[in-house]
Amino acid sequence: MKRKDLLGLRGLEAEEIDLFLREGLDMKRLLKQNGKSLPYLRDKSATILFYENSTRTRSSFELAAKYMGAKVVNISAASSSVQKGETLVDTGKTLDAMKNDFIVMRHPMGGAPHLLAETVKAHVVNAGDGMNEHPTQALLDMLTMRERFGKIEGLTVAILGDIRHSRVAKSNLFGLKKLGAEVRMFAPRTLVPAEIGKMGAKICDSREEAAEGADVVMGLRIQLERQHGGNFPSLGEYARFYGVNDEIMKYASKNAIVMHPGPVNRGVELTSGLIDGESSLIEDQVLSGIAVRMAVLKLLAE
Ligand code: CP
Repeated sequence: MKRKDLLGLRGLEAEEIDLFLREGLDMKRLLKQNGKSLPYLRDKSATILFYENSTRTRSSFELAAKYMGAKVVNISAASSSVQKGETLVDTGKTLDAMKNDFIVMRHPMGGAPHLLAETVKAHVVNAGDGMNEHPTQALLDMLTMRERFGKIEGLTVAILGDIRHSRVAKSNLFGLKKLGAEVRMFAPRTLVPAEIGKMGAKICDSREEAAEGADVVMGLRIQLERQHGGNFPSLGEYARFYGVNDEIMKYASKNAIVMHPGPVNRGVELTSGLIDGESSLIEDQVLSGIAVRMAVLKLLAE
């Protein structure tokens, strides 16, 4: 891997994405055999710098780094010197001065990791920047799909939910298209940005059209914290008219899987029955998350 940083999937070559997935699948096999003590980052240190809330991304990056022997420091905006007015670039320079090797950053502003990457020596990994990208989420989603179907090329992936505010939708779109999948999207029109069609997504007019013959049906969280006006009348009506349920899954292929990046609004994007059902790979996505983050840190360090 020649890259210093992982900032998004938009600028990656298909071969680079494939390399992350192959390495991630190896890591997942090791994790399933209880491989939690791998020495790849024994002499490295990583700072997890989160300016937004997180459960799975934050903890899986921390565990991934620790399973590979790195020293890990956690900083959240609430407890950092950002509260005293320190800039992002100065925060990065301070971490560089401590001989820190990785900065894994989540930030509410799109482009923040890109600015940091230009100004620090450490490898910067984007753990979600505003509504821009969430590259390791898309990599873990693709890893889960590849493990289940043995390939990405030729798959049909239907993504339903809050497309407008979703960095996960964009990173998945970039990655899946590069590896040869068809990506369909459906949401209330108020939650579908005009530019997403130009980026390669097939915009559908109904849930049924999106799900028809799909191998993967992925729900996306309604991001109420990023919505500054009503985009639909109520969560109950969203669930009834736009959510994914058993009836919609009847349109998908026989072996279709249900995915969601989490956190899920139970009963809104997906019914509880689907979340906990046999076709759901939502928990498996979480294990893929540790595996792919181990792969990313290892390959960047190389
Ligand atoms: N999928 C995801 O990014 O979840 P968290 O916000 O819990 O990290």
